[in-house]
Amino acid sequence: MVTVIESISEMREFIKQVKLQNKRVGFVPTMGALHEGHLTLMREAQSVSDIVVASIFVNPTQFGPNEDYDAYPRTWQEDITACQRAGVDVVFRPRVVDMYPEGWGTWISVEQVTEKLCGQTRPGHFRGVATVVTKLFNIVQPDKAFFGQKDAQQVVVLMKMVRDLNMNVEIVMVPIVRDEDGLAKSSRNTYLTADQRTAALVLSCSLAFAQQLVRQGQRDVDFIRNEVQGKIGAEPLANVEYVEIYSFPELQEVRTVSGKVLLAVAVKFGATRLIDNIILEAKE
Ligand code: PAF
Repeated sequence: MVTVIESISEMREFIKQVKLQNKRVGFVPTMGALHEGHLTLMREAQSVSDIVVASIFVNPTQFGPNEDYDAYPRTWQEDITACQRAGVDVVFRPRVVDMYPEGWGTWISVEQVTEKLCGQTRPGHFRGVATVVTKLFNIVQPDKAFFGQKDAQQVVVLMKMVRDLNMNVEIVMVPIVRDEDGLAKSSRNTYLTADQRTAALVLSCSLAFAQQLVRQGQRDVDFIRNEVQGKIGAEPLANVEYVEIYSFPELQEVRTVSGKVLLAVAVKFGATRLIDNIILEAKE
C-alpha cells in the first residue's frame, strides 16, 4: 500500500529513517494528472532505487498570471492508484501554504539556459521550477531524480542547477513516451478537441521527418528548421510559437548538426500549448 505524506516534517522524518538504513532514494517530482510518461519515470526509479518517492504538487510559482494554474487537471484519486500500480512507496503531497508560507521570498534563478525556448514566452517559469525542485530535493534528499525528456529544457536547467550548486543528486532523463499515433503524452492533451488532437500529430511527424533528413546526411540547421516550421505551419489548426535547434545539453546556437542537437517545438492548438522535441545525432 502506498503511503501518502502531506506534512514536510513527516516527510523529513521518513527520509531520515530510510537514510539510516542506507537505502537509495529515487524521486519523481510531478504535478499530478499522471499519464504513462510519469509511470515510466516511476518504474525507472523503482528499477534502480530501494525507495521511490513521488511528489504531487501543482506548483503555483511556475505558472504565469495568464496561464492554466487554476484549470490544470487535478486527478488525485486516479493518481494515487497509478502510483500504487507503478510501485511508488511514498506519495508526498505538500500543501501550497506549507511550501510557500507567508513571508517566503527566496528564489533559485538558473541563468544562460533559461532565456531561450520556453523561457521566452514563459518568463519566470524556470525560476519557479528550479525553486520548487530545490525545495523538494531539500525535503526528500533523493540519490536520483527522474524527469521526462518531453521537458528537455527543464532537464537541462535542472542539470545545470545541480552542477552549479553542488547538489548531491543525480538527474536522470527518461525518453519521451508517446501515444501509439505519435502524440507525446502530456497532462495538457486532455484540453484538446478531437480535431486539435488529430492536428497535433503534425508535431511528432515533423520531428520524425527531421530525423530522417539527418539520417540522409542533411546537416544544415537552418534548412532543417525551415522544413519543420513549414510542415507545422501548413497545419491550419497549428499556431507555431517556436521551432528551434540548439546543441544538447548546452543549448548553444549551432549552424550545423554535429554531435547531439535538440530540435524543440512549441505550438498552440487553440488555447492549448504543446511542446515536443527530438535529440538529433549526426553519426559521421
Ligand atoms: O515537470 C513537472 O511536472 C514540473 O515542472 C515539476 C518538475 C514537477 C516541478 O513542479
